[in-house]
Amino acid sequence: MTHPNRETGPREAAELIRRPRRLRTSPAMRDLVAEYRLHPEDLIQVLFVRDGIEEPAEISSMPGQYQHTLASVLEAVRRAEAAGVRCVDLFGVPREEDKDADGSAAWHPEGILNRAIRAIREEFGDRLVIMADTCLDEFTDHGHCGPLTTDPKGRTVVDNDASVALYRRMAVSQAEAGAHVVSPSGMMDGQIAGIREALDAAGFADVSVMAYSAKYASAFFGPFRDAVGSSLTGDRKTYQQDPANRRESLLEARLDVEEGADMVMVKPALAYLDILREVAEESPVPVAAYHVSGEYAMIEAAAANGWVDRERIVLESLTSIRRAGADMILTYYATEVAEWLRDGRR
Ligand code: PBG
Repeated sequence: MTHPNRETGPREAAELIRRPRRLRTSPAMRDLVAEYRLHPEDLIQVLFVRDGIEEPAEISSMPGQYQHTLASVLEAVRRAEAAGVRCVDLFGVPREEDKDADGSAAWHPEGILNRAIRAIREEFGDRLVIMADTCLDEFTDHGHCGPLTTDPKGRTVVDNDASVALYRRMAVSQAEAGAHVVSPSGMMDGQIAGIREALDAAGFADVSVMAYSAKYASAFFGPFRDAVGSSLTGDRKTYQQDPANRRESLLEARLDVEEGADMVMVKPALAYLDILREVAEESPVPVAAYHVSGEYAMIEAAAANGWVDRERIVLESLTSIRRAGADMILTYYATEVAEWLRDGRR
């Protein structure tokens, strides 16, 4: 069908009552009618802290991101707070010799992640929400998210219930260290219920659980494996979701809420905005999305080549994640974007 104006021509163009372009005529007008905005308060800065290093080490596949020392992670948290970020999410990278089959450095009070949580809580108290990753893969010598076992058919598998038992200890140790939020990312069945029960039994009824509800077995996690010095060979396809599936995410999110999740998350973000939208429409609890390492690395690589406008593409990506339904976004860009927003850019 041809548009009526095509036939009548510009002379009769005034008959066109609806001209959506009117609301795009100036920056002020566009700001006025913008439906979604980024706020520093909705951005969660993801940080890595590594044991046994003297200086922060830049992550080669994530230029601009670091494996921090205890001193430099505090510096990074100060910068995040100054920019208006209200939450940091911490991952620990243990020394190679501290890895074992169960990942015991994960719940040791002197494990690197717990030391970092404690130091940050000491300095920042309740001014910032301290979120900790509650998963064993950084700490196991095989790189899986829980201990391995042999099933009745002789296959090596990640032991679901044994993993949850260890997550319970890890979550309690993180709460003891001062985490306000624990965030189990291992995709084991029943992990939220197990952790909730353990936290409550240890007197941490106030510590919240952010569930990685819909987490896909994704190639977008590639650079993260460098970031945490992962020992993984193989994949996580028997516990993380198949990218081909949609309904499963609704089930996962629903189960997590039933098990007591205070917040749910979808991960990765951009390739899963449909999932994010659906989870956000159903969820009775706040919804997060995780703009992951591969999403960061792709932007950085393209920007370094001058192929895309880095700042615009970062803001567009994060705004689209908000538009799809995320209340908050975990991202490696949080502090930087918060600084841009503070300077009036968006
Ligand atoms: C594992 C974990 C991963 C990420 C967060 N937690 C990696 C994985 O599941 O393989 C990925 C984060 C990112 O890619 O930015 N506990």
